[in-house]
Amino acid sequence: MDFIEQLKSQIDIVRVVSDYVRLRRFGQRYSGLCPFHNEKTPSFSIYAEHQFFKCFGCDAKGDVIKFVEMIERLTFWEAVKKLADMHGIPLPKRSQGGDEETRLRAAVYEMHEIAVEHFRANLRSANGERVRHYLGDRGVTRESAEHFLIGLSDGGGRTLARLLEQRGYDGAQMEASGLVGRRDDGSFYDRFRNRLMFPIQGESGKIIAFGGRALDPDEKAKYLNSPETPVYRKSHVLYNLNRAKEGARQSDRIVMVEGYMDVIGATQAGVTEVVAPCGTALTVEQIRSLKRHSTNLFLNFDPDSAGEKAAERSIKLLLEENVRVRIVELEGGLDPDEYCKAHGPEQYRDRVTRAKNYFYWLADRARSKFDMRDPQGRVDAFQFLMPGIQSLNDKIERIAVANDLAGYLGIDAGSVLEHFRKTAGDRVERRAPQPKQDPARAVDRILLPLLLTNDEARTNLVPYIRDLRILQQFPSAPVYAALIRAHEAGETVSYNAIHGRLPEAQQEALASVVLEAGAAGLTEEDGVACIESLRTEELENLRRELRARIKAAERNGDMNEALTLMQELADLG
Ligand code: UTP
Ligand code: MN
Repeated sequence: MDFIEQLKSQIDIVRVVSDYVRLRRFGQRYSGLCPFHNEKTPSFSIYAEHQFFKCFGCDAKGDVIKFVEMIERLTFWEAVKKLADMHGIPLPKRSQGGDEETRLRAAVYEMHEIAVEHFRANLRSANGERVRHYLGDRGVTRESAEHFLIGLSDGGGRTLARLLEQRGYDGAQMEASGLVGRRDDGSFYDRFRNRLMFPIQGESGKIIAFGGRALDPDEKAKYLNSPETPVYRKSHVLYNLNRAKEGARQSDRIVMVEGYMDVIGATQAGVTEVVAPCGTALTVEQIRSLKRHSTNLFLNFDPDSAGEKAAERSIKLLLEENVRVRIVELEGGLDPDEYCKAHGPEQYRDRVTRAKNYFYWLADRARSKFDMRDPQGRVDAFQFLMPGIQSLNDKIERIAVANDLAGYLGIDAGSVLEHFRKTAGDRVERRAPQPKQDPARAVDRILLPLLLTNDEARTNLVPYIRDLRILQQFPSAPVYAALIRAHEAGETVSYNAIHGRLPEAQQEALASVVLEAGAAGLTEEDGVACIESLRTEELENLRRELRARIKAAERNGDMNEALTLMQELADLG
């Protein structure tokens, strides 16, 4: 058994998945809401006996390693390492380096560690004095600067590039890190120069990127962020989620602000459950990563028009993902950081606590945009509000919100509201595609699970199954063939191993038969009974075929042929 098989045999997929998904047990099957797509009724299952997961909604599927790869966004080898570490299983020497991608990512992580220490040392050094004052003026405490690992990139142009070269990283690794750029002559220069450096961390706390704020007011780009790298996908990361998640779980809420400085300001004000998208429009991936910690989001974007547009857009996306949204409103046109500084921590916390349900905020926007005294204006206002309501996944809630809104806007339940209620209530429910129902043969549902899970039964039954010609007419014939081949070659026979050998169309057939049926309670005797009935059927088919051929021979007057066939028929018994 190779290491991967050995590792998998020591790990229970159910236990691994239950760290991420709340599961309910149905015999050997466990079911929960799929972590890979948005749904309200569970179509995600774990099949304990096959150590396999599958979602019938989005078709995510695989073994425990695949699950960890997908949920943690790791390479195969990183997932293997993580699982081995978690279970105290030593990795064989040979695999320690892993594949090329894993090695490159490891180097990029290391370079970020070197960079953050370098930037922080700069900030502490004599060269950092002016910037330390700048931070002080902006109200960032020393502790905060340490806590957020804030640093300073110098203006030299290639200090970090040289440092990385000295540490032995090669050109390809350096370029992949996003920390340096390459000139035409092949030399490297620092991407970040004379900037206040905010390290961006993944959920586990590893530094994966930087945001750099310009210190020179003449600098064109106020912020410069790391490009996409093998360890950084902007659209998947929320700044500060690694620190915010604990508080988020405790208070069951997450505050979302726009910028790095806002995160720092809010944290200093005692609101630690705060995150920010890193200079991108909020994405579904970001929402899913915060949803794992709390589904109550308090949106606190800047009160300028860009922030309001972003808020409108984000609300829709959040509602579609079943996140409850409140809007934090700060008076005086201040962003969260400025507000904390101007009004102090208590008042900021108070504003967060008083955040109102998103639809009041939307309604206020509608009121200021449209003339509510005019009937057409009211219709326009409703039209403006519609998308926010339509995004609610729950019909009852949609109608309740529609009623509340009408009340808030001071409109009686007239024809507009009726119309509105109706459309809001009647929204077509989006549903995950239903799995195709395979007219799987009853035998498949017994034989396949049995052969895949019971080694002894397999050893005893395969010789008989191989000789059953009738199986070759089954839609599942390729599955049996793959299984028999693997068994006879002495290879691993498991749901997952066989699944991996099949073309996609047959993978689906295998899943629908085996996973739904389950192997619980199946014995070798059940298998024998199946084989017996298949044999009977096979014989019956042969007889029918012979009788037809005999008739044909008689019709053609070929008595010799007819007699031979009759003998054959008699021999069948
Ligand atoms: P802001 O311009 O509001 O900056 O951008 P800020 O965070 O409040 O910083 P200060 O207070 O001016 O120092 C909000 C966020 O948008 C991203 C950054 O993540 C920033 O924190 N951003 C902004 C960029 O990525 N690039 C830019 O050029 C500007
Ligand atoms: Mn700001």
